[in-house]
Amino acid sequence: MSTHDSVFLKRFSMIIAFLAVLTIVLIVAAKYLYTFHPTEPNPVTTARVAERLQPVGGVHSGETGAAAIAAAAQAATAAAASQVAFDGSLDGSVIYNGACTACHGTGAAGAPMLTKDAWTARQAQGVETLVKHATEGFQGAAGIMPARGGNPAISDAQIDATVRWMLENLK
Ligand code: HEC
Repeated sequence: MSTHDSVFLKRFSMIIAFLAVLTIVLIVAAKYLYTFHPTEPNPVTTARVAERLQPVGGVHSGETGAAAIAAAAQAATAAAASQVAFDGSLDGSVIYNGACTACHGTGAAGAPMLTKDAWTARQAQGVETLVKHATEGFQGAAGIMPARGGNPAISDAQIDATVRWMLENLK
């Protein structure tokens, strides 16, 4: 081998060695940095843990226990339904802005916006009918109006106040 070759070989192996060391340093640095990364809990794990944390009586409880669980679930549903939306406010603007504007403010899903034109024909049905449709839900040519705007916690009186507020605020 000429001296030329051996000098080349020496330098070349030094470069390779340097790159190898650099790779290792980068790997270690990346691992270290990753320890600061907040990990997202795996939903499967979370669900399993929740399952294991169930009270003993709730997991295997025979008929009596099952009935108690069903009763509790029913009570929870009833409590959710009887929850007061918007702190019981009868201010139509509050309820409208919280529950109706997503569709009626933008025309999304075919909802009539608060313009006189869009409501002339609807108003001809009478306020009572409009309130009924808003309460029970309504499907017309334009689209689907979900019952209580999709929030079962909104009371009859609140829907009534909101529909009246909407009609007073047509532009
Ligand atoms: C998911 C969208 C959506 C939300 C939220 C929504 N609406 Fe509607 N609403 C509609 C659509 C679509 C129509 C038109 C239905 C048709 O005539 O085809 C409509 C129609 C109506 C009508 C007229 C019904 C008729 O007989 O012409 C009233 C009144 C009404 N909405 C009130 C409300 C009130 C009050 C809220 C909030 C509590 C609300 N809406 C929330 C989509 C929505």
